[in-house]
Amino acid sequence: MVQFNRVSVVGLGYIGLPTAAVIASRGINVVGLDVNQSAVDTINSGNVHIVEPDLDIVVRAVVTDGKLKATTQAEKADAFMIAVPTPFKDDYKADLSYIESAAKVIAPVLEKGNLVILESTSPVGATEKLADWLAEARPDLTFPQTAGNEADINVAHCPERVLPGYVLRELVENDRVIGGMSDACSEKAISLYKLFVKGECLITNARTAEMAKLTENSFRDVNIAFANELSVICDKLDINVWELVKLANRHPRVNILNPGPGVGGHCIAVDPWFIVSSAPEEAKLIRQAREVNDAKPHYILNQIKQAADQFKKPVIACLGIAFKADIDDLRESPALDITKMLAESEIGEVLVVEPNIDELPKAFDGLNIKLVSIEEAMDAANTFAVLVDHKEFKEIDPVEMAKKVLIDSRGIF
Ligand SMILES: NC(=O)c1ccc[n+]([C@@H]2O[C@H](COP(=O)([O-])OP(=O)(O)OC[C@H]3O[C@@H](n4cnc5c(N)ncnc54)[C@H](O)[C@@H]3O)[C@@H](O)[C@H]2O)c1
Repeated sequence: MVQFNRVSVVGLGYIGLPTAAVIASRGINVVGLDVNQSAVDTINSGNVHIVEPDLDIVVRAVVTDGKLKATTQAEKADAFMIAVPTPFKDDYKADLSYIESAAKVIAPVLEKGNLVILESTSPVGATEKLADWLAEARPDLTFPQTAGNEADINVAHCPERVLPGYVLRELVENDRVIGGMSDACSEKAISLYKLFVKGECLITNARTAEMAKLTENSFRDVNIAFANELSVICDKLDINVWELVKLANRHPRVNILNPGPGVGGHCIAVDPWFIVSSAPEEAKLIRQAREVNDAKPHYILNQIKQAADQFKKPVIACLGIAFKADIDDLRESPALDITKMLAESEIGEVLVVEPNIDELPKAFDGLNIKLVSIEEAMDAANTFAVLVDHKEFKEIDPVEMAKKVLIDSRGIF
């Protein structure tokens, strides 16, 4: 069994920090590396800078025990796990600059026998690029792209598929796809994950592992696009889409998702583009799904505007601006975009009910938008737009809501 006495986690965000904390909680020394000094200071004081249930408790415990420390300077370790951002650029191609700079930072401290794992969601070929950047910086060491199983440094891609809100549980319980650049890389990576993962570790190569993660999110995106397209068709044909989906789903082999105002978050709305940009001619359906889902917020916006237009003084209450139900995450949120465009159109007064935040996001700066309670909205607004199916909204009296003009993009009423 390979020994991992010291593990370095590079990038201490939503993925890296829980990963570092869980590994440290198994008694392994973990050194977290991040470019963000304030995050490093927060972690070293035993606190957390991101919202994730129970993460604060685990981090405090492992920092107090001396098992986890954070730093801005690379230090030697037996394994390096890279969890830096991989956004897309204006042309929808993946921005690998964070991975490249992480490679340059850890390269000087690499030693023969080390394992480097890329956890960031990446386009096919990114792990090979990472290995090339490392090799360029360390010509004195051998890497799997040239030395295969005999390489001094092993490199693998092991994508992360945890669900925010359940990260600590899913980090341990989910199955993992382990894509080594050689058999030796996969074997070594498995022995690291076995230290904290109870799920199955499934071996493949790096390219398939990269594609697996992108495929999972594209599968979701395409299925959501199908539901969203159906909702638009149903509006045109005067059919209730919610009833339709329920009926169709009584077929034993049909399982249609519910339509919504679009697709949000930084995974499903982003990752399919990595496939499209790698195979633009071939990825027709995946691109179309992205376009259908990206068009949906504009469609809902127009519905709200038309509904509000019948009032002399429209007062529009947007219910929810998070990217999905019962979270405070506003990243890439279609509900937020719809609300912003509504306020920019100056069609009337815009109120926001978002039980998961205390103040409006910076994106609304300079716009006339008020954050209010459900009760205040029910008193003041004549037009309602359900943009997120938060549990609080499901408790609104449907009889009261029936007195309002309603655009219900989540079908909760
Ligand atoms: N958040 C999720 O739910 C989730 C789920 C699955 C996969 N992923 C993927 O995991 C990766 C990380 O996502 P995240 O949500 O944790 O991002 P994040 O923005 O929360 O965290 C990234 C961290 O990396 C740090 N960083 C940036 N450049 C660095 C560098 N050169 N060296 C060291 N640190 C650096 C940042 O300061 C930040 O703290 C992405 O590829 C993402 O697509 C995220």
